[in-house]
Amino acid sequence: MKSNNFPIGIFDSGIGGTSIWKEITTLLPNEQTIYLSDSKNAPYGIKSKQEIIDLSIKNTEFLIRKNCKIIVVACNTATTNAIQLLRSNYNVPFIGIEPAIKPAALKTKTNTIGILATKGTLTSDLFAKTSNTLHKGITVKETIGEGLVALIEAGKIQSEEMHNLLKKYLKPMVNNGVDCLVLGCTHYPYLIPIIKDIIGDKIEIIDSGLAVAKQTKHILEENNLLNNTDKAGHHQFFINKNKDILCSIIAPNSNIKINELDF
Ligand code: DGL
Repeated sequence: MKSNNFPIGIFDSGIGGTSIWKEITTLLPNEQTIYLSDSKNAPYGIKSKQEIIDLSIKNTEFLIRKNCKIIVVACNTATTNAIQLLRSNYNVPFIGIEPAIKPAALKTKTNTIGILATKGTLTSDLFAKTSNTLHKGITVKETIGEGLVALIEAGKIQSEEMHNLLKKYLKPMVNNGVDCLVLGCTHYPYLIPIIKDIIGDKIEIIDSGLAVAKQTKHILEENNLLNNTDKAGHHQFFINKNKDILCSIIAPNSNIKINELDF
């Protein structure tokens, strides 16, 4: 029996999924949340499918033990590699996040869209399946954002290394006439100011954060699981490495409690 007051569980390989947590808590301010950041095992994007599945199972079971009424897989890499298995193994609704290449394909005028994502996402069967549904005239420039997640997890968003890597990945897209750039990793919204400096304002940046929050609301409504109180939700964070970086990214001055885990 799931109660409406039970929390929404959210997990990611690290702190990137907080970009989704922010969208969810803005859209659903009365919901309780539990966020699990498996930073010790980040990045997932360079791991094998089986390793990503095993870590996703471990994260899911943690959130189920905490009585979560729904689980948001706030990680493109975990969603594209593990969500089918999670849905068939656990009796709880799952919300996933996938790169927004379909919306980008509908918007592009140059018929050329770019996507920056992890190796695990870009090589997954689920991503291939979605790509194959795109109109044949659309060119998708795929780029693996190797090293980006590790730098974010290390608190090096503003580093020279980050600027250089982003230039290396994005300049070829600009030169190839991309007019929509899909951010296919929940860590990347934290890079938007730097990305904009590199690609300028003629390329639209597309990410799936708000769509995931809306879908979470929709599935809660459909299952009669929305929290009907008028009190602000309570939020708990669990992390197994680099607590300070999570703290600086969610709200340095807030009194949200971050729990350290040996996990
Ligand atoms: N936030 C994860 C994603 O959306 C990062 C993956 C990783 O850890 O490499 O794909």
